[in-house]
Amino acid sequence: MLSLLLLIPLIQLATLSSAQGTTCNATSLCPSSAPCCSEFGYCGTGEFCLGGCNPLHSHSLDSCLPNPVCKSAQHVFTDNSRILSNVTHFDGNATEWDWTLDKGNMLNTNTSGGELALLLTKDNGGTRISSTRYLHYGTVTARIKTGRWGGVVTAFITMSSVKDEIDWEWPGAKTTEAQSNYFWQGFIPAQTNGATHGGLTDTFSNYHDYTIDWQPDTLTWLIDGGVVRTLKKSDTVNSNGIALYPTTPARIQISLWPAGIEGNPQGTVQWAGGIINWNDPDYVAAGHFYTLIQSINVTCNDPVNPSPDVTSYVYTPNTTTSTPGIDFSNKTTINGAASGHVTNPLLILGATAAGLFLIQFF
Ligand SMILES: *[C@@H]1O[C@H](CO)[C@@H](O)[C@H](O)[C@H]1NC(C)=O
Ligand SMILES: *[C@@H]1O[C@H](CO)[C@@H](O)[C@H](O)[C@H]1NC(C)=O
Ligand SMILES: *[C@@H]1O[C@H](CO)[C@@H](O)[C@H](O)[C@H]1NC(C)=O
Ligand SMILES: *[C@@H]1O[C@H](CO)[C@@H](O)[C@H](O)[C@H]1NC(C)=O
Ligand SMILES: *[C@@H]1O[C@H](CO)[C@@H](O)[C@H](O)[C@H]1NC(C)=O
Ligand SMILES: *[C@@H]1O[C@H](CO)[C@@H](O)[C@H](O)[C@H]1NC(C)=O
Ligand SMILES: *[C@@H]1O[C@H](CO)[C@@H](O)[C@H](O)[C@H]1NC(C)=O
Repeated sequence: MLSLLLLIPLIQLATLSSAQGTTCNATSLCPSSAPCCSEFGYCGTGEFCLGGCNPLHSHSLDSCLPNPVCKSAQHVFTDNSRILSNVTHFDGNATEWDWTLDKGNMLNTNTSGGELALLLTKDNGGTRISSTRYLHYGTVTARIKTGRWGGVVTAFITMSSVKDEIDWEWPGAKTTEAQSNYFWQGFIPAQTNGATHGGLTDTFSNYHDYTIDWQPDTLTWLIDGGVVRTLKKSDTVNSNGIALYPTTPARIQISLWPAGIEGNPQGTVQWAGGIINWNDPDYVAAGHFYTLIQSINVTCNDPVNPSPDVTSYVYTPNTTTSTPGIDFSNKTTINGAASGHVTNPLLILGATAAGLFLIQFF
């Protein structure tokens, strides 16, 4: 769902300089002075060119920084040391950080063992973490305990820069079911692509493993290793011959967000199980609502194996809306790497072809 996005631009606007902040979309691309269209649809430089920067709405296809290439990993949360707690300090270095806290508050509930809690309070508007690396096909499994409160939505999704999206969601108080969904480039279809999968043991009290198995031709959702839904790319082709199927590199995001608040569309509030009760005993006792994450496993499955010097994904010059082209690249994903790293003696001495490439072009 897109709704958490709507809550965030205020923060970003507050950090804008006067040269920045015009809105961007498919018909109104960013100017060269503020070339990057952020995930929230505002033009700017710096952080606007990082996670979620939309190449199709930016000044040019290469305005956004390249997306850090996928790396298979088993993420655990014994502590929060791999999570950058303030995303505005992120420079695009996906070796330094695995996750960014984009908004809200987190807690580590068990420093000796490890589970990450994402918090929702009346004031924080929800919490979201994003992976610093992108997935361009592959399998992601998250072991999660969800919320259990009307109006509160737990979500585990993949989201690309052009808003290809694959979802697991748990709206409200229904703790025996999970919902799967997907979107192509943020397009809201007349008939929802969402589906509900029931019969689970309480998703608040029990960890379950939720998997998104995203392959070039099929998309499969699994719970505790069992397939609950399969979608073939070929079944998504529309009357113009375009497959409305996610194909672009995506970040992994987990969030807890307040869908059931005044001002949200009635349909969203209803879907989420009504208006949030801030007097709920769980909320009063803990001081927040929460979801718990124990581990997240990522297995990359790029259509072609990247060579060792590949650092990133870029959108190719022949990209169109209907067929985004994605290439591997040697380009840095790091903001300001030019000034910071051309003078790095190690980089110059280690003058591999990739190193020279960096020196010449960044
Ligand atoms: C795109 O942005 C321009 C400039 O802000 C705005 O006038 C226009 O309505 C927007 N178009 C859409 C489809 O949102
Ligand atoms: C994040 O860092 C920015 C820049 O240093 C700062 O203005 C902002 O207050 C920080 N946000 C939080 C939540 O600490
Ligand atoms: C990225 O972070 C890693 C780990 O902290 C560090 O070794 C490396 O120098 C950083 N790269 C750049 C270009 O800053
Ligand atoms: C903390 O985590 C460890 C390892 O998962 C577990 O053995 C222990 O019971 C946990 N402690 C608490 C207080 O939850
Ligand atoms: C991740 O992989 C490790 C090693 O195979 C396994 O022990 C763990 O249960 C997995 N976690 C998830 C969420 O799949
Ligand atoms: C776009 O270019 C890439 C390589 O740069 C190629 O793999 C892809 O097939 C091209 N796509 C189209 C639609 O021409
Ligand atoms: C990276 O650089 C090497 C050496 O110049 C080159 O052979 C390779 O094709 C490049 N890879 C990509 C994805 O650009």
